Amino acid sequence: MITLGIESSCDETGLALYDTERGLLAHTVHSQVAMHEEYGGVVPELASRDHIRRLIPLLRGVLDEAGVDKVAIDAIAYTAGPGLAGALLVGASFAEALALALGVPALPVHHLEGHLLSPLLSKNPPAFPFVALLVSGGHTQLMRVTKVGAYQLLGESLDDAAGEAFDKTAKLLGLGYPGGPALAALAESGATNGKTGRFKLPRPMLHSGDLMFSFSGLKTAVLTAVRERDLSATERIELAVEFQEAVSDVLVTKAIAACRQNQLTTLVVAGGVGANRRLRQRLDEAAARHGIAVFYPELALCTDNGAMIAFCGAQRLLQGGRSVTAGAFVVRPRWPLSEVTGLG
Ligand code: KG4
Ligand code: ZN
Repeated sequence: MITLGIESSCDETGLALYDTERGLLAHTVHSQVAMHEEYGGVVPELASRDHIRRLIPLLRGVLDEAGVDKVAIDAIAYTAGPGLAGALLVGASFAEALALALGVPALPVHHLEGHLLSPLLSKNPPAFPFVALLVSGGHTQLMRVTKVGAYQLLGESLDDAAGEAFDKTAKLLGLGYPGGPALAALAESGATNGKTGRFKLPRPMLHSGDLMFSFSGLKTAVLTAVRERDLSATERIELAVEFQEAVSDVLVTKAIAACRQNQLTTLVVAGGVGANRRLRQRLDEAAARHGIAVFYPELALCTDNGAMIAFCGAQRLLQGGRSVTAGAFVVRPRWPLSEVTGLG
C-alpha cells in the first residue's frame, strides 16, 4: 500500500511516498528559510503562497524518484494541525482534491504524531512501549507511547518550547533565522569543550519534582547578559555553549526521570531540537548510565518532512482507520496531541 504524505504546517513543504511493503520510496522537502530570512522569522502569508507554488512540482519529483504513477497511490495523508492556518489549508485542500480525483482515502494527520513516529522509519526502529521526548519549535512534551494512537502526556512546557527558546536566544545573540541550528553552530565553533566561561544560566524547573518544563526564563536571563554590555566574540560563544548546556540539563534529566517513573527502557527523541548534537551526546551518556536505549529519527527526518506524515497515515490505515473525509476537511491550527487517541 502506497501512501503519499504531505506536510505544510509551517515553512517547509514536504512530500513523500511510503510503501508498507518496501518502506520509504521517495521524500523531498522544500525549505522556505531563504525566503523568510530577511524578515527574521516566518511570514505566514508568504509561507502559504509558497506552499501553493511548490506542491505540484514536488509531487512530480517524488513520483519520478519512486518510479510510480500517481494512480499507484492508495491513500493520501496530510498534516491537519497544529500549525499556521493558511499553510495547513494549502496542504489539506491539495490532499483532499487529489484524493477525490484518484478515488482514494485522505487522512488528516497530527503533526506531532508524525514527529513522534518518525524514529520508526529508521533501519533500527524502537519497539513499543516507549517514552517520547518531543522537542520542536512549538512543543516540548514527554509522552508515554504504548502503540500507534495511544499517547499519554507525562509533562510539557508551561511556556516557551525548547526550539522557541533556541530561536529567541539566537535572535538576542544577533544570529539569523532559523535560530536553533545557528546557535548550535556558534556553540560548536569555539571548541570550548563544554566549558561555559563566566556565564551561569538557570536550569528552570530542574528540581520541580514533576515532568513539566519552562524555558521563557532562560531567554530572559540571556537578554540580561546581552544588555549588560557588549559581548566579545568569545563571550558570545560561551553564552551559546552555556545556553545549550542549560537546555540539555533540563531535557536530559526529565527524559530519564520519565523513563524511570514509567519503568520503560526505551526513549525516543523527535522534533527539530532532536537534531542538536550536544543534546544527543548528553542524552546518550545519561541513558547509557541508566540502561536506557535512545532512538532518534534520521537527521533528515528530525525537522519537518512528508515522510513522517506518510508513515503515520499508513500506520493508521493498517490499524483499520478509514478516515475518509471526502473533500470536507477542517484544519486545526491548535490541536493537542492528547486528543489523538482512537483510530480512524
Ligand atoms: O520540528 P521542527 O522542524 O518544526 C516544528 O514542528 O516546530 O522544529 C523546528 C525547531 C526550531 O525551533 C529550530 O530552531 C529547532 O527546531 N532546531 C534546532 C536544531 N535544528 C532545528 N535546535 C537546536 N539545535 C539544532 N541543531
Ligand atoms: Zn515539526
